[in-house]
Amino acid sequence: MSVADLPKVELHLHHEGAAPPAFIRQLAHEKKVDLSGIFTDEGGYKFTDFVNFLRTYEAATAVLQTPEDFGRLTSAVLEECAASNAIYVESFLSPEFCGGGDLGAWREYLQAVQEAARDAEARHGILLRGIVTCIRHEGPEVAKRTALCAAETAGDWIVGFGMGGDEGKGHQGDFAYSFDMAREAGLRLTTHAGEFGGPDSVWEAIRDLNVERIGHGVRAIEDKALVQELVARDITLEVCPGSNVVLGLYKNFAHHPIKRLRDAGVKVTISTDDPPFFGTTLRREYEMLAQAHGWDAADFKAINQTAARAAFCDADTRDGLLKRLEDA
Ligand code: HPA
Ligand code: ZN
Repeated sequence: MSVADLPKVELHLHHEGAAPPAFIRQLAHEKKVDLSGIFTDEGGYKFTDFVNFLRTYEAATAVLQTPEDFGRLTSAVLEECAASNAIYVESFLSPEFCGGGDLGAWREYLQAVQEAARDAEARHGILLRGIVTCIRHEGPEVAKRTALCAAETAGDWIVGFGMGGDEGKGHQGDFAYSFDMAREAGLRLTTHAGEFGGPDSVWEAIRDLNVERIGHGVRAIEDKALVQELVARDITLEVCPGSNVVLGLYKNFAHHPIKRLRDAGVKVTISTDDPPFFGTTLRREYEMLAQAHGWDAADFKAINQTAARAAFCDADTRDGLLKRLEDA
């Protein structure tokens, strides 16, 4: 069996960022929105760098206007995940994209997403859980509204709170109020750091937000004391190698620090971030990593067990995942 066929646990996937371009084009057609500028001649998403990527991303999300649209998006996304044999996915959902931060609207979007997820579970056995995500470049005040939506819908489906967006804007600590609110509501915490921000951004995430997982975090490799701190605190990194390569952090998979981090004892997991934007799938990430670092099925099994243990779902769900990984 190829490592690409193994059952997989994905912890870092932006819900809208996983939208197949053909799906977004179809919605644009139905809604008579001109999105031609955001696609390449080959039909992929067009962007030049990270900030421009965020702009393309936000343009694409403009056609996702109703709970029904998000239900259809969820079906399309989970089809893709299931095709990579993902058995469990946590995706980032932002109330800002789902009703503009209004709690009542957010509940309706969430219901549509959950209904589509139930269908996908019945069809493919794939499980989805949600992490409510604030958007860093919209600032701490907007984040409070997002955190309120998160706190009000926290439970066994909305299991976490996180932050994405432009790492170049502000500091992690600016969002401490929102992360505290989410924590008090029982949500588990993660934030994007150590992608475009250097090691300092990871230190901030740990010290100022007290998160237990970090989105990317790979630039921790530049600071020995930080690597030791990640190990000591048992922090899990949601690593997305293909995303890092496309956005120019590393030349290729062989230069990516995931292996060095793992060898140093850091808990690393493998995800895709915004797969169609970065021309990747979970399957491809495994193939590329196997090729670049010589990892075999036992390595990937161990990494998936790490991911299942770091998943924000309840204990019964986690035990079920560990059993499925063991039985494979
Ligand atoms: N990184 C940070 N913020 C994001 C991303 C991403 O890949 N996708 C959507 N928002
Ligand atoms: Zn991300």
